[in-house]
Amino acid sequence: MIKGTPAGKGTGCHVTLGVSAGISIYKSCDLVRRLIERGCDVKVVMTAHATRMIGPVTFQALSRNPVITSLFEGSGDPTIAHIELAKWEDLLLVAPATANVLAKFARGVADDFLSTHYLASTSPVLLAPAMNGNMWRHPATRENLDILKARGHKILSPGEGSLACGDVDEGRLPEPAAIADEALALLSPSAQKGNLAGKRVLVTAGPTREPLDAVRFLTNRSSGKMGYAMAAAAANRGADVTVISGPVALSPPVGVRTIRVETAAEMGTALGGEFPQCDILVMAAAVADYKPAAASAGKRKKDGTEWMVQLQENKDLVQAVGKLKKPGQFICGFAAETDLLHENARAKLKKKNMDLIAANDVSREDVGFDSDRNELVLFWPDGREEALPPAAKRVCAEAVWDRIVESLHE
Ligand code: PMT
Repeated sequence: MIKGTPAGKGTGCHVTLGVSAGISIYKSCDLVRRLIERGCDVKVVMTAHATRMIGPVTFQALSRNPVITSLFEGSGDPTIAHIELAKWEDLLLVAPATANVLAKFARGVADDFLSTHYLASTSPVLLAPAMNGNMWRHPATRENLDILKARGHKILSPGEGSLACGDVDEGRLPEPAAIADEALALLSPSAQKGNLAGKRVLVTAGPTREPLDAVRFLTNRSSGKMGYAMAAAAANRGADVTVISGPVALSPPVGVRTIRVETAAEMGTALGGEFPQCDILVMAAAVADYKPAAASAGKRKKDGTEWMVQLQENKDLVQAVGKLKKPGQFICGFAAETDLLHENARAKLKKKNMDLIAANDVSREDVGFDSDRNELVLFWPDGREEALPPAAKRVCAEAVWDRIVESLHE
């Protein structure tokens, strides 16, 4: 038996999929699968007419999330469910989007859950219309599309082919894989820019392990997701990327060279070898600040006494390479804080000679360590700071890369 990927693991991008009543609704079932394959967590909202064509249970089983079918059904407070969903989502995708949904969105008519949610949503919007060719070309539909485009929404042009009415015409819903790819591209628009082409990027990711004896070690809760997201985003932008990774359960991002290490000392050695050749270093690894002063060679046996472990400070890796930084090299660090986030992050930025630091609150369960999402505050040496909105780590990574690229041009 092959176990499936749990919904929401991977990129951690939250997608609301609005489904309205077009005959191509059968493709929306496959679209849910395609989005999940790409690491998205999907919540489906169906219009009342859509539920006459396919039962919500199908979408519930595929998305592994409850399906919303009306303003007054489902769990939670019905008066704010559309607001809660708007806070959760990173992208609102409607496929198929009927002429009626386009008209309601364009004119701000809020008479069901999907159209009310649209008004509450601040996320990017991707619409995949599908309808009869005459309906698609009707001046009313064209006007509505112009309004939606002017609002910055992305409209996927329907394809040509045989339609449910028997005509061969334009109006077909694009293939689910193509819609899913557009969705991910919209979640990370800068990924398409290739604006790191020619740059050598070095990323450290994950925890380190500091041995106590042959079988025990000290470590921390880092999963490597933030560092791997930074690496994947840089590779998508055309950079030549190397990751120095502590022990994690993740597959390396496609096209990225990976150096695996265990201890902080090993990470330091790898960093020393790679740093001189890189243009940009991203220190997302949670390097252990302390290691046992002495590790037993074999497995320590229980002998009825207390085991007193003395810890000694590890070398600060980024501080050490920061001293060797050549003009043109850029260092972005991360700061893992539980209190006084602003003060501590600023102090680290200065002490470690970084060009940018991204601070996260690691006392929270919903972001930071091991979560698919993060909430970062960025600090620059000139005193600027910027709080990024909470988002999937992959989306946070794109935002950090956008700022790094801007900083390189300054
Ligand atoms: O891996 P995830 O589960 O996705 O979690 C992501 C994360 C919380 C680990 C990541 O977002 C993060 O905050 N990484 C930095 C963790 C950390 O070690 O923070 P720090 O504040 O202790 O260190 C500040 C900087 O110094 C970091 O860039 C760190 O890599 C570096 N450092 C720290 C100690 C040390 N001995 N050498 C270092 O180079």
